[in-house]
Amino acid sequence: MEDMEKFLFKFKGYYFNRSSLDIGFIENLDNFEIRENDVFIVTYPKSGTIWFQQLSLIYSEEHRKGTGKRETMDRVPFFEYKTPEMDFEERPSPCLFSTHLPYYLVPSGLKNKKVKIIYVYRNPKDVMCSYFHFAKNVISQFTGTFEEFMKQFLEGRVMGSLWFDHIKGWYEHRSLFNIQFMMYEEMKKDPRGSVLKICKFLEKGLSDEDMDAVVRQAIFENMKDDPLANYDSIIATVFGPNAKGHFLRKGTIGDWKNHLTVEQNERFDKIFQREMKDFPLEFIWDM
Ligand code: A3P
Repeated sequence: MEDMEKFLFKFKGYYFNRSSLDIGFIENLDNFEIRENDVFIVTYPKSGTIWFQQLSLIYSEEHRKGTGKRETMDRVPFFEYKTPEMDFEERPSPCLFSTHLPYYLVPSGLKNKKVKIIYVYRNPKDVMCSYFHFAKNVISQFTGTFEEFMKQFLEGRVMGSLWFDHIKGWYEHRSLFNIQFMMYEEMKKDPRGSVLKICKFLEKGLSDEDMDAVVRQAIFENMKDDPLANYDSIIATVFGPNAKGHFLRKGTIGDWKNHLTVEQNERFDKIFQREMKDFPLEFIWDM
């Protein structure tokens, strides 16, 4: 089995993906100057990051109308995986960023209570299954069985570290930030309602027509066919020639039922109950 850990870089207790990392930038992250109207989309990997990045259409009339040419990665770059070509300082406001960072590693400027943060979470059984396919077929950093992956995931030996720590850390420290928690499954069940909720949080009024365009272009099938939104063009360049999967894989709720055995499910539930005892956010496990 290929051990994923050799692809990881641990910094202050958190695992980054080593290959796309500017370590100097990471070491100085705390000093990075944040502008008041920046917006951050925070996710644990495989929770629907790419989906919520597509909601950058709320800010972009030309992409809503289909005339824009910028790929998601450029519209909502990953903060911690900044490359030398990305000049964050020169970007027009508002700047939209994505990040998988835990609450304690983000620049302290995010605690000014003005920067808007959208935290997207998804039931962790589906996160784990999505991650398994991603690790095997997209980043090609894992060659083992599902059981072996489950162990790594539950020990936090993956990029993003432990799912439980990530969500609990952000939730327990929410009062430090201006943060809106959004659920993947709610977005799936009621996309328009979720987009409205986000618009309200972002204080962005959209006409019905613009709202329809955002919702339509964020539907799984439409994103999958949209080269600006599906990341397909970067998969080979960023993750190498063996990468054959897609970020938009299935996009369903409850795919874990196709992966976990009864025993694995019981084991997962036991850990979940122990770790998430008294955690108030709800989870949706099936459609
Ligand atoms: P699956 O692998 O379960 O299909 P991330 O961007 O954080 O890596 O998350 C990727 C997951 O979000 C994938 O899950 C992907 O299919 C799902 N996803 C992306 N866009 C989606 C959409 N428009 N609707 C539903 N799911 C979506």
